Amino acid sequence: MTTEAFDKLYRGQPMFEGAPPPAGIPWDIRQAQPTLMELEALGGFSGDVLDIGCGLGDNAIYLASRGHSVTGLDGSPAAIEQARDRAAAAGVEVAFGVADATKLTGYDSRFDSVLDSGLYHCLDDEGRQAYAAALYRATRSGARWHLYCFAYGTVNGLTAPRDAVPEHNLRDTLTANGWRIDFLGPTTYLGNAAGMRFGENALPQAVLDRLPQEELEKMHDMAARLKRIAELVEDDRVHMPMTVVHAHRVD
Ligand SMILES: C[S@@+](CC[C@H](N)C(=O)[O-])C[C@H]1O[C@@H](n2cnc3c(N)ncnc32)[C@H](O)[C@@H]1O
Repeated sequence: MTTEAFDKLYRGQPMFEGAPPPAGIPWDIRQAQPTLMELEALGGFSGDVLDIGCGLGDNAIYLASRGHSVTGLDGSPAAIEQARDRAAAAGVEVAFGVADATKLTGYDSRFDSVLDSGLYHCLDDEGRQAYAAALYRATRSGARWHLYCFAYGTVNGLTAPRDAVPEHNLRDTLTANGWRIDFLGPTTYLGNAAGMRFGENALPQAVLDRLPQEELEKMHDMAARLKRIAELVEDDRVHMPMTVVHAHRVD
Protein backbone atom coordinates (compact mmCIF):
# COMPACT_ATOMS: atom_id res chain seq x y z
CA MET A 1 0.00 0.00 0.00
CA THR A 2 1.30 3.47 -0.88
CA THR A 3 1.40 6.35 1.62
CA GLU A 4 -1.30 8.02 -0.56
CA ALA A 5 -3.57 4.99 -0.02
CA PHE A 6 -2.92 5.17 3.74
CA ASP A 7 -3.78 8.85 3.70
CA LYS A 8 -7.11 8.15 1.96
CA LEU A 9 -7.92 5.45 4.49
CA TYR A 10 -7.25 7.88 7.37
CA ARG A 11 -9.53 10.45 5.68
CA GLY A 12 -12.32 7.83 5.36
CA GLN A 13 -12.09 7.93 1.56
CA PRO A 14 -12.15 4.88 -0.76
CA MET A 15 -8.59 3.63 -1.25
CA PHE A 16 -9.21 2.56 -4.85
CA GLU A 17 -11.45 4.02 -7.53
CA GLY A 18 -14.80 2.28 -7.31
CA ALA A 19 -14.30 0.90 -3.79
CA PRO A 20 -16.70 1.78 -0.94
CA PRO A 21 -15.43 4.05 1.88
CA PRO A 22 -13.53 2.08 4.57
CA ALA A 23 -15.64 0.66 7.42
CA GLY A 24 -12.82 1.26 9.91
CA ILE A 25 -9.06 1.38 10.30
CA PRO A 26 -7.79 -2.16 10.93
CA TRP A 27 -5.19 -1.07 13.54
CA ASP A 28 -7.15 1.67 15.28
CA ILE A 29 -7.91 0.31 18.74
CA ARG A 30 -7.84 3.79 20.37
CA GLN A 31 -5.23 2.72 22.91
CA ALA A 32 -1.63 1.55 22.97
CA GLN A 33 -0.85 -2.05 22.06
CA PRO A 34 -0.87 -4.18 25.25
CA THR A 35 2.47 -5.81 24.32
CA LEU A 36 4.06 -2.38 23.92
CA MET A 37 2.81 -1.34 27.36
CA GLU A 38 4.44 -4.46 28.82
CA LEU A 39 7.69 -3.78 26.97
CA GLU A 40 7.76 -0.23 28.32
CA ALA A 41 7.12 -1.46 31.87
CA LEU A 42 10.07 -3.83 31.48
CA GLY A 43 12.46 -1.02 30.52
CA GLY A 44 12.36 -1.32 26.71
CA PHE A 45 12.60 2.42 26.08
CA SER A 46 15.19 4.98 27.09
CA GLY A 47 16.42 8.39 25.91
CA ASP A 48 14.80 10.00 22.88
CA VAL A 49 12.15 7.69 21.43
CA LEU A 50 10.98 7.52 17.81
CA ASP A 51 7.62 5.90 16.97
CA ILE A 52 8.01 5.41 13.23
CA GLY A 53 4.85 4.84 11.16
CA CYS A 54 2.99 6.04 14.26
CA GLY A 55 -0.41 6.24 12.55
CA LEU A 56 -3.02 7.75 14.86
CA GLY A 57 -0.44 8.05 17.60
CA ASP A 58 -1.81 5.98 20.49
CA ASN A 59 1.47 4.14 21.11
CA ALA A 60 3.48 7.39 21.03
CA ILE A 61 0.95 9.08 23.33
CA TYR A 62 1.19 6.19 25.79
CA LEU A 63 5.00 6.35 25.83
CA ALA A 64 4.87 10.12 26.39
CA SER A 65 2.37 9.62 29.23
CA ARG A 66 4.98 7.35 30.85
CA GLY A 67 7.48 10.22 30.85
CA HIS A 68 9.44 9.52 27.66
CA SER A 69 10.49 12.17 25.16
CA VAL A 70 8.71 10.95 22.02
CA THR A 71 8.67 11.83 18.33
CA GLY A 72 5.95 10.24 16.20
CA LEU A 73 6.46 10.23 12.41
CA ASP A 74 4.19 8.96 9.64
CA GLY A 75 3.95 9.35 5.88
CA SER A 76 0.26 10.30 6.07
CA PRO A 77 -0.56 13.96 6.85
CA ALA A 78 -4.13 12.91 7.80
CA ALA A 79 -2.82 10.44 10.39
CA ILE A 80 -0.54 13.09 11.89
CA GLU A 81 -3.38 15.66 12.14
CA GLN A 82 -5.50 13.13 14.05
CA ALA A 83 -2.57 12.01 16.22
CA ARG A 84 -2.01 15.64 17.25
CA ASP A 85 -5.69 15.91 18.23
CA ARG A 86 -5.46 12.69 20.27
CA ALA A 87 -2.33 13.90 22.07
CA ALA A 88 -4.02 17.21 22.90
CA ALA A 89 -7.08 15.34 24.22
CA ALA A 90 -4.80 13.14 26.33
CA GLY A 91 -2.89 16.18 27.60
CA VAL A 92 0.55 14.89 26.62
CA GLU A 93 3.28 16.27 24.39
CA VAL A 94 4.53 14.31 21.40
CA ALA A 95 6.53 15.84 18.55
CA PHE A 96 4.44 14.54 15.63
CA GLY A 97 5.54 15.10 12.04
CA VAL A 98 5.14 13.86 8.48
CA ALA A 99 8.17 11.95 7.16
CA ASP A 100 9.10 9.12 4.82
CA ALA A 101 10.54 6.26 6.87
CA THR A 102 12.77 5.21 3.99
CA LYS A 103 14.57 8.59 4.08
CA LEU A 104 14.14 10.26 7.49
CA THR A 105 15.70 13.42 6.10
CA GLY A 106 16.57 15.94 8.82
CA TYR A 107 16.58 13.42 11.68
CA ASP A 108 20.27 12.40 11.75
CA SER A 109 21.58 11.05 15.12
CA ARG A 110 18.40 11.97 16.99
CA PHE A 111 17.07 8.83 18.68
CA ASP A 112 18.03 6.23 21.31
CA SER A 113 14.99 3.95 21.01
CA VAL A 114 12.78 3.13 18.04
CA LEU A 115 9.31 1.59 17.95
CA ASP A 116 7.98 0.15 14.71
CA SER A 117 4.46 -1.13 15.32
CA GLY A 118 3.32 -2.48 11.97
CA LEU A 119 5.33 -0.39 9.50
CA TYR A 120 8.03 -2.81 8.24
CA HIS A 121 5.52 -5.23 6.66
CA CYS A 122 4.00 -2.33 4.65
CA LEU A 123 7.25 -1.81 2.70
CA ASP A 124 8.62 -3.73 -0.28
CA ASP A 125 12.13 -5.19 -0.19
CA GLU A 126 13.83 -2.08 -1.53
CA GLY A 127 11.86 0.06 0.94
CA ARG A 128 12.84 -2.20 3.85
CA GLN A 129 16.55 -1.85 3.03
CA ALA A 130 16.29 1.93 2.71
CA TYR A 131 14.27 2.11 5.94
CA ALA A 132 16.77 0.07 8.00
CA ALA A 133 19.60 2.27 6.64
CA ALA A 134 17.64 5.47 7.37
CA LEU A 135 17.01 4.31 10.95
CA TYR A 136 20.73 3.66 11.36
CA ARG A 137 21.42 7.28 10.39
CA ALA A 138 18.61 8.62 12.59
CA THR A 139 19.84 6.86 15.75
CA ARG A 140 22.76 7.25 18.14
CA SER A 141 25.35 4.79 19.36
CA GLY A 142 23.76 1.88 21.27
CA ALA A 143 20.20 2.61 20.09
CA ARG A 144 17.55 -0.11 20.37
CA TRP A 145 14.92 -0.95 17.73
CA HIS A 146 11.72 -2.80 18.61
CA LEU A 147 9.96 -4.02 15.48
CA TYR A 148 6.51 -5.68 15.27
CA CYS A 149 5.41 -7.16 11.93
CA PHE A 150 2.94 -9.73 10.62
CA ALA A 151 3.90 -13.37 11.17
CA TYR A 152 2.85 -16.73 9.75
CA GLY A 153 0.49 -18.98 11.69
CA THR A 154 -2.65 -18.14 13.63
CA VAL A 155 -3.78 -16.70 16.96
CA ASN A 156 -7.11 -18.08 18.19
CA GLY A 157 -7.80 -19.21 14.62
CA LEU A 158 -7.04 -15.87 12.93
CA THR A 159 -4.21 -15.32 10.47
CA ALA A 160 -2.54 -12.01 9.66
CA PRO A 161 -4.65 -10.03 7.17
CA ARG A 162 -1.77 -9.54 4.74
CA ASP A 163 1.61 -10.97 3.82
CA ALA A 164 3.64 -12.26 6.73
CA VAL A 165 7.36 -11.43 6.85
CA PRO A 166 9.73 -14.40 6.70
CA GLU A 167 12.31 -14.55 9.50
CA HIS A 168 15.22 -14.57 7.02
CA ASN A 169 13.99 -11.29 5.51
CA LEU A 170 14.17 -9.57 8.90
CA ARG A 171 17.58 -11.07 9.69
CA ASP A 172 19.06 -10.19 6.29
CA THR A 173 17.71 -6.62 6.19
CA LEU A 174 18.66 -5.67 9.71
CA THR A 175 22.13 -7.17 9.72
CA ALA A 176 22.95 -5.69 6.28
CA ASN A 177 22.19 -2.22 7.62
CA GLY A 178 24.11 -2.13 10.89
CA TRP A 179 21.63 -3.75 13.32
CA ARG A 180 22.22 -6.81 15.51
CA ILE A 181 19.21 -8.89 16.50
CA ASP A 182 19.03 -9.75 20.21
CA PHE A 183 15.66 -11.51 20.06
CA LEU A 184 13.21 -12.53 17.35
CA GLY A 185 10.06 -14.43 18.27
CA PRO A 186 6.26 -14.66 18.26
CA THR A 187 3.88 -12.16 19.82
CA THR A 188 0.38 -10.81 19.16
CA TYR A 189 -1.12 -7.52 17.99
CA LEU A 190 -4.60 -6.26 18.76
CA GLY A 191 -6.52 -5.19 15.66
CA ASN A 192 -9.89 -3.63 14.87
CA ALA A 193 -12.07 -6.20 13.10
CA ALA A 194 -14.37 -3.43 11.82
CA GLY A 195 -11.62 -2.48 9.38
CA MET A 196 -10.94 -6.06 8.28
CA ARG A 197 -14.26 -7.46 7.14
CA PHE A 198 -13.26 -7.51 3.50
CA GLY A 199 -16.37 -9.00 1.89
CA GLU A 200 -17.02 -9.50 -1.80
CA ASN A 201 -17.98 -5.84 -2.17
CA ALA A 202 -15.03 -4.23 -0.39
CA LEU A 203 -12.89 -3.91 -3.52
CA PRO A 204 -13.83 -3.03 -7.09
CA GLN A 205 -13.79 -5.86 -9.64
CA ALA A 206 -10.78 -4.37 -11.45
CA VAL A 207 -8.72 -4.64 -8.26
CA LEU A 208 -10.05 -8.13 -7.44
CA ASP A 209 -9.11 -9.27 -10.95
CA ARG A 210 -5.49 -8.27 -10.34
CA LEU A 211 -5.18 -10.15 -7.03
CA PRO A 212 -3.61 -13.60 -7.09
CA GLN A 213 -6.11 -16.43 -6.38
CA GLU A 214 -4.28 -17.24 -3.14
CA GLU A 215 -4.78 -13.66 -1.86
CA LEU A 216 -8.48 -13.71 -2.78
CA GLU A 217 -9.02 -16.98 -0.94
CA LYS A 218 -7.18 -15.63 2.10
CA MET A 219 -9.36 -12.50 2.08
CA HIS A 220 -12.58 -14.49 1.89
CA ASP A 221 -11.43 -16.91 4.57
CA MET A 222 -10.55 -14.03 6.90
CA ALA A 223 -13.91 -12.33 6.28
CA ALA A 224 -15.77 -15.59 7.01
CA ARG A 225 -13.84 -16.21 10.23
CA LEU A 226 -14.40 -12.64 11.46
CA LYS A 227 -18.11 -12.94 10.72
CA ARG A 228 -18.36 -16.14 12.75
CA ILE A 229 -16.70 -14.66 15.82
CA ALA A 230 -18.21 -11.15 15.53
CA GLU A 231 -20.70 -11.67 18.37
CA LEU A 232 -18.02 -13.02 20.67
CA VAL A 233 -15.32 -10.34 20.55
CA GLU A 234 -15.42 -7.22 22.66
CA ASP A 235 -15.23 -3.83 20.89
CA ASP A 236 -14.35 -5.58 17.60
CA ARG A 237 -10.85 -6.26 18.94
CA VAL A 238 -9.08 -9.36 17.65
CA HIS A 239 -5.58 -10.75 18.16
CA MET A 240 -3.31 -11.34 15.20
CA PRO A 241 0.02 -13.18 14.88
CA MET A 242 3.09 -10.94 14.87
CA THR A 243 6.84 -11.32 15.07
CA VAL A 244 8.69 -9.06 17.47
CA VAL A 245 12.34 -8.19 16.93
CA HIS A 246 14.53 -6.49 19.51
CA ALA A 247 17.72 -5.24 17.89
CA HIS A 248 20.53 -2.85 18.74
CA ARG A 249 22.60 -0.59 16.57
CA VAL A 250 26.12 -1.80 15.89
CA ASP A 251 28.57 1.12 16.12
C1 LIG B 1 -0.30 -0.73 9.93
S1 LIG B 1 -0.18 1.00 10.21
C2 LIG B 1 0.39 1.02 11.90
C3 LIG B 1 0.14 2.32 12.62
C4 LIG B 1 0.59 2.39 14.08
N1 LIG B 1 2.01 2.18 14.22
C5 LIG B 1 -0.17 1.40 14.94
O1 LIG B 1 0.36 0.39 15.37
O2 LIG B 1 -1.36 1.69 15.19
C6 LIG B 1 1.29 1.43 9.28
C7 LIG B 1 1.58 2.92 9.25
O3 LIG B 1 2.79 3.14 8.53
C8 LIG B 1 2.65 4.31 7.75
N2 LIG B 1 3.59 4.21 6.62
C9 LIG B 1 3.58 3.35 5.58
N3 LIG B 1 4.64 3.57 4.77
C10 LIG B 1 5.34 4.61 5.31
C11 LIG B 1 6.54 5.29 4.96
N4 LIG B 1 7.27 4.97 3.87
N5 LIG B 1 6.97 6.31 5.77
C12 LIG B 1 6.28 6.64 6.88
N6 LIG B 1 5.14 6.02 7.27
C13 LIG B 1 4.67 5.02 6.49
C14 LIG B 1 1.19 4.33 7.32
O4 LIG B 1 0.75 5.62 6.96
C15 LIG B 1 0.51 3.77 8.57
O5 LIG B 1 0.12 4.80 9.44
